[in-house]
Amino acid sequence: MTKITAGPSHTSRYTALDPVPGDVELLAKVRELIDDLSPDNAELLTAFHRIQQAYGYVPRETIPVIATKFRTTPAMLYGALDFYSEIRTVPPAETVVEWCSGPACLLKGSMNIRRVLESILGCEMSQNTDDGAFGLRLVQCDGTCHLAPLVRREGRYIGPLSVSDTIRLARELKGEGEPEPVPESGGLKAGEGQPAVESAAEQEGGGA
Ligand code: FES
Repeated sequence: MTKITAGPSHTSRYTALDPVPGDVELLAKVRELIDDLSPDNAELLTAFHRIQQAYGYVPRETIPVIATKFRTTPAMLYGALDFYSEIRTVPPAETVVEWCSGPACLLKGSMNIRRVLESILGCEMSQNTDDGAFGLRLVQCDGTCHLAPLVRREGRYIGPLSVSDTIRLARELKGEGEPEPVPESGGLKAGEGQPAVESAAEQEGGGA
């Protein structure tokens, strides 16, 4: 597992944090989740993952608890959270669309895909809509570049996407418009897919 750190320990600047207001049960559970970890910053990512696995995100009120455990400052933790986009500090939306920011997707026009998603779904990257219905997450390349540009939803891959495919997909997610035939270029050819990989055509034709 890739390890990240919040930088070197800042013992010279570190001071114990006052008890934080918040859900007592939540904070106690978080202390329990990270209790066996070393205060070494190398275990910080493990702490984030454990908390996100338990709650679906890392609640902001738990940051002082984590900072105390790792003898660092909340500011340093927020820096680490900014760096590591897989970790969320807000609850996941009901429908999350993951947008690949990798180089192959960028070369094939993924910025246009992103703009369409932001515009139609109504939220910017790494944010949720106000009602929590939709969220956009930036993810890194995971090696499925033959589907670029792509998005992921509920663990499934949708691509290669054209702008018109994306408009149609976003509108369908919002419950607007009827499914339409997808251009052949919008999906995988027979036999080209992998398990858990879904083309735009399959997603629109039978997956929804
Ligand atoms: S760059 Fe997007 S999957 Fe590789």
